[in-house]
Amino acid sequence: MTPRTEFVYLSEADLLEAGVLDTGRCVDVCEEVFRLLADGDYLMGGSNRNSHGLGLVFPKESPFPNMPLAGPDRRFVAMPAYLGGRFDVCGNKWYGSNAANTDKGLPRSVLTLTLNDKDTGEPLSFMSANLISSARTGAVPAVASRYLARPDAEVAVVIGCGPINQACYRAIVNQLPQLKRVLCYDLFTEKAQQFADRSLATLGVAGEAVTSLPDALADGDVVTVAASRLKPLHVEDSWFKAGATVLLSGPLKADDAFWTGSTIVYDNVGLHEAYVEEAIASSDRQAYYDGVIGGPLYGLIDRGALPALRDSVDLGNVILGNRPGRTDDAQRTLFVASGMAVFDVGWGYDLYRTALEKGIGQRLTLWDQPHAG
Ligand SMILES: NC(=O)c1ccc[n+]([C@@H]2O[C@H](COP(=O)([O-])OP(=O)(O)OC[C@H]3O[C@@H](n4cnc5c(N)ncnc54)[C@H](O)[C@@H]3O)[C@@H](O)[C@H]2O)c1
Repeated sequence: MTPRTEFVYLSEADLLEAGVLDTGRCVDVCEEVFRLLADGDYLMGGSNRNSHGLGLVFPKESPFPNMPLAGPDRRFVAMPAYLGGRFDVCGNKWYGSNAANTDKGLPRSVLTLTLNDKDTGEPLSFMSANLISSARTGAVPAVASRYLARPDAEVAVVIGCGPINQACYRAIVNQLPQLKRVLCYDLFTEKAQQFADRSLATLGVAGEAVTSLPDALADGDVVTVAASRLKPLHVEDSWFKAGATVLLSGPLKADDAFWTGSTIVYDNVGLHEAYVEEAIASSDRQAYYDGVIGGPLYGLIDRGALPALRDSVDLGNVILGNRPGRTDDAQRTLFVASGMAVFDVGWGYDLYRTALEKGIGQRLTLWDQPHAG
């Protein structure tokens, strides 16, 4: 007889109880995932097994009155993955994003994650994923800071003061407890001030809202970038302090010297190769590059100004000791993180296991028996 299929529903409150905000644990899980990436024990979407995900592309106009139209930060994206090692599980993060959400008191993007048995496809868990996603997005650059930042780093610069950079900054401070000061920059000074106040109140690191990015970057030892696309963000090579570690989790525009003058470490070279493949297959390669975090790098690689992706370094191989990361204290080191479902699946699975152990969440029935007809 076919067994009944049950899965665990985990609300945001359940995930908080299971430890989704345990930053140190999330950073450790993400480091484990980086090791699996370097070993190749994972799959993501598409025939190249490395696609970031598949999105719905909304048209600028439509004859159908109900069809969603293109708008700021407006998209739906599915991000499937298999993750090996102790995880050995399949999953899919699915989210909708719309800048207009904030007027309704909602987060810009609303995310859920499903974990599935890798053999049968049965759901193991369906869970709220906003906190999972922001925690892992923060933990990823924090793993990079563990391996790439100078040990004497004291001043952090935060560019873009939204929830993603809150998570990045919290995790970076967790890894670099020697940080003494944070300079906060946002299009909206009140957001930068709130970020600075929160840094002191919750992490004990003095913060300051700044309006001049060149002045802030002149002091920055560790720079975390996670601004939205409300207004293009542009920086110049000459603004940066020697030896800075720049952690890119959101889009950035810069002069060529910024990119070519940095030691670049990618989150996963295969992911970026997949982005370039998708750009070549698209109708407008440059427009595709303009829409993704690594786009400026791909343009320089095409022009021969940066090494080909296949010759580039990714963090998993730095962690495993296969490739060098930072080689020189004076060298600016740039880490590029484009977001991968393997981190959602890894962190989500870890929390799911905790929920099972502690009896957190609601057991739901998919079926007592699959319907015969
Ligand atoms: N790498 C990843 O894994 C990953 C995952 C999730 C989100 N992201 C990216 O992180 C970024 C931030 O996400 P969020 O949810 O915090 O967004 P958000 O819209 O809630 O906040 C972003 C902040 O950036 C500010 N901003 C926008 N343009 C700016 C500019 N030119 N200069 C200074 N500040 C500017 C906004 O005022 C806002 O305060 C987005 O680009 C998102 O796509 C990356």
